[in-house]
Amino acid sequence: MTDLVALDADLTRRIAEAADLGALEAIRIEALGKQGSVSGLLKSLGAMSPDERKARGPEINGLRDRIAALIAARREALDQAALDAQLAAERVDLSLPPPPRRRGAVHPTMQVMDEMIAIFADLGFRVAEGPDIEDDFHNFTALNFPPKHPAREMHDTFFFHPDPETGERRLLRTHTSPVQVRTLQRTDAPAPAPWIANGQSPPIRIVAPGRTYRCDSDATHTPMFHQMEGLVIDRGIHMGHLKWTLDRFVSRFFETPSVVTRFRPHHFPFTEPSAEMDVQCDRSGSEVRIGQGRDWMEIVGCGMVHPNVLRNCGLDPQEWQGFAFGFGVDRLGMLKYGMPDLREMFASDVRWLGHYGFSPFATPTTAAGLS
Ligand code: DAH
Repeated sequence: MTDLVALDADLTRRIAEAADLGALEAIRIEALGKQGSVSGLLKSLGAMSPDERKARGPEINGLRDRIAALIAARREALDQAALDAQLAAERVDLSLPPPPRRRGAVHPTMQVMDEMIAIFADLGFRVAEGPDIEDDFHNFTALNFPPKHPAREMHDTFFFHPDPETGERRLLRTHTSPVQVRTLQRTDAPAPAPWIANGQSPPIRIVAPGRTYRCDSDATHTPMFHQMEGLVIDRGIHMGHLKWTLDRFVSRFFETPSVVTRFRPHHFPFTEPSAEMDVQCDRSGSEVRIGQGRDWMEIVGCGMVHPNVLRNCGLDPQEWQGFAFGFGVDRLGMLKYGMPDLREMFASDVRWLGHYGFSPFATPTTAAGLS
């Protein structure tokens, strides 16, 4: 009896004094573990006479229950104390200034695409999309490229190995113009997403942003780059509509009426007539500057959709006309934000991204301002 009382008092005191979870666990094992002092007393019940067991059983079981409850309560108190200490150590002082550098940034190309989409959406254009891996038909044939056109050659186009069964060579699209074909062609296949405007009937006004690929690399060319295609199909469309749309776009994009542009006659198989538009800029320093200087930078190819393209997509050129354009998105970014070398845009240098990147909260809208 006495040793029960003494054991109870000893354990109770030591549990209350246990400074951490490790010390508490040691006491638990010492008392309630297989070889523990309380467990030993419980085991001794088996050797007692029924009367003795009747008297001692409740005492020993009571001790076991009391010690177990004390340990649980002490563990909870220690847990709570540990949590309080952790919370106090990790408290954030909201009155401190924010860290000087933000961690993530929106890549200028993505920002420029959003700016472009905002402007064209304001003019009634929807967004269309197509795959990066294309077939010869959509990238070339339907766009009226003659069979031996140089752009089909290996030095421009990244081709995949021919399919062993069909012999078909798929390719990485060299421009976003195949999205014109995918938009014009009637298709029963569902659009990739409800907001993607493929497989439409005229009148049509779409822009198609995306990645494009060519085997080319210097200060103004990278093997992967971005274009934004535009396509308008309606009745009675002419070059005047094209020129107005591009001029309007340029002055809104550069947010100044003083941008000087020029149209040069050009050749594209899928437009007739075709042109390229340049903006005047200064490339004498380390940055490209818009609105000054005597240099020109080509930013968009354009023209009236060739009747063969309309025919290839099942439209009657007597009834429908249209214009199309294809912007180099990265180049627009270089011009607007003064980046000197296109290759740096895709070098994944965090210092570059920190310098030229945009806050994710700076969503461009025509109403709130583009940049
Ligand atoms: N696809 C042409 C290129 O990558 C750009 C282009 C020119 C697109 C004229 C057009 C266009 O839609 O009409 O160089």
